[in-house]
Amino acid sequence: MTSQKVVCLGAGIVGGCTQVVFASKCKTHDFYVVDIDEERIKGWNNFKPNYYEPGLNKLLKTCLNKNLFFTTDFENTLKDATLIFLSVGTPTKQRGEMKGIGTNLSYIESCCRMIAKYAKNEKVIVIEKSTVPVGTAQKITNFLQEYNKNETENEKENENETTKENKKKQKQIVVLSNPEFLAEGTAIKNLQHPDRVLIGGPNTEFGKYAQEQLKQLYKGWVPEEKIFFSNTWSTELSKLTSNAMLAQRVSSINSISQICEEIGAEVTQVSKNMGSDPRIGSRFLNASVGFGGSCFEKDILNLIYLCEHYHLYVVAKYWKSVLELNNHQKLRFAKNIADTMFQNLENKKITILGFTFKKNTDDVRGSAAIDVCNYLLGEGAILSIYDPKAKPKHIKLSLKGYNENQLIICDSVSNAVIDSHALVVLTEWDEFTQIDLSKCYQKMIHPSYIFDGRNIINRKSAQKIGFNIYSVGFPKNK
Ligand code: NAD
Ligand code: UDX
Repeated sequence: MTSQKVVCLGAGIVGGCTQVVFASKCKTHDFYVVDIDEERIKGWNNFKPNYYEPGLNKLLKTCLNKNLFFTTDFENTLKDATLIFLSVGTPTKQRGEMKGIGTNLSYIESCCRMIAKYAKNEKVIVIEKSTVPVGTAQKITNFLQEYNKNETENEKENENETTKENKKKQKQIVVLSNPEFLAEGTAIKNLQHPDRVLIGGPNTEFGKYAQEQLKQLYKGWVPEEKIFFSNTWSTELSKLTSNAMLAQRVSSINSISQICEEIGAEVTQVSKNMGSDPRIGSRFLNASVGFGGSCFEKDILNLIYLCEHYHLYVVAKYWKSVLELNNHQKLRFAKNIADTMFQNLENKKITILGFTFKKNTDDVRGSAAIDVCNYLLGEGAILSIYDPKAKPKHIKLSLKGYNENQLIICDSVSNAVIDSHALVVLTEWDEFTQIDLSKCYQKMIHPSYIFDGRNIINRKSAQKIGFNIYSVGFPKNK
């Protein structure tokens, strides 16, 4: 394959990780990642990405400044780019029409403006890596074509060139959908061994050419049978529905966990029994305090928006219920802590173990810990929080309405538990499975409680030591 200049707009988790893996797999191409955030770019160039992802730093060392470059220079980077990835954020709208449901496309639009202005190649291939509303590829195409038409007409007026000369300058533009399925904490592994790569694009001559170029990029390490082609709308929709289905599974098992708690069944057994049916499958059946992260809720809201746009209100309601169950699960877990502890948390110290939305990441976006901690703070509790990776400033910024003396961020479990009434496990970090519970018990106020939102603490051992333990989907203290 001929050498390509690949440009990615957005140096976040998706932009950074995808390009590091691409660069390590395709040595013949040059990869440029461009971002408006100078600090972020500086971090990458100093081998210090501003987030934690297992395996990332090691891989970065093999390609940074060889065939992988991070920059804020849009103009020089885009001018001769052959493939342009969009990997910027697509958060939920915070104001205006469809506030709290629709997608804020402002970052995507600003990228389009950069591409329109600076990409000078005659063939412009834009690739959506960001998760976008269905129909966004068409919007981008319309925008870029319109911009290009105006530019060519202006040139026609200003210069006395022949029509032939002007025609030559007309860019060919195509927008492909190539959604990303990496999960945080396993991003590098997921990118190196993807289950599938989706490519969606128009069925035109240039559309097919572009899809082939993108396929060639992956062919170095992804088996051909794992690269699926479909039309753009199917590809865009598949990303939203994949996340919706995964979230729905978590809400389903969490709904079952509530039944287990009431009737005295054990959710881990029920998961195992159900999951051994290959039609159901065993993955994503871990009951928890609730799902979090920057994707599930946002992408389901995006799907709900689509349903409502097409007046599919019953379908919209179905997907809304996945989010409702998740919110209910978080609140039920938090309320149970208060109810169990004399319905009084005023000035009681509670140790929070884990704040990230899952293990092996430092990302706290959308973490269930935020809702649980906000509830406990609202009840007057004092929280001593320990997380192996979450940054204290991110923890503080995500919580609200508390007094400074209600929040203590600790650097170890053993410091966090001193004079605590309860241990609350909110993230399934491996470290928490090794905790010396006897030592914790000695340092705590009695009666001492454990509320395990991840089912990682051995219930029998904890009870033997003297703890009252509540685990998601288990009968209370039995
Ligand atoms: P992020 O917030 O980590 O990074 C986004 C980056 O885009 C930031 O560095 C920001 O400065 C930059 N940016 C904003 N405007 C820009 C512009 N005009 N030009 C260049 N850069 C600009 O986001 P993320 O988690 O990497 O997610 C990016 C997209 O990928 C989202 O659409 C998300 O839904 C999707 N996605 C995320 C994940 C995930 O696990 N995080 C997985 C799959 C898909
Ligand atoms: C998700 C998708 O998995 C990924 O394909 C997509 O590209 C981005 O969104 P991510 O949000 O990084 O990835 O993490 P994921 O592993 O899916 O977990 C999401 C949330 O669900 C976490 O809070 C996790 O703890 C929770 N979860 C997951 C459960 O509570 N139980 C489970 O069985 C699985």
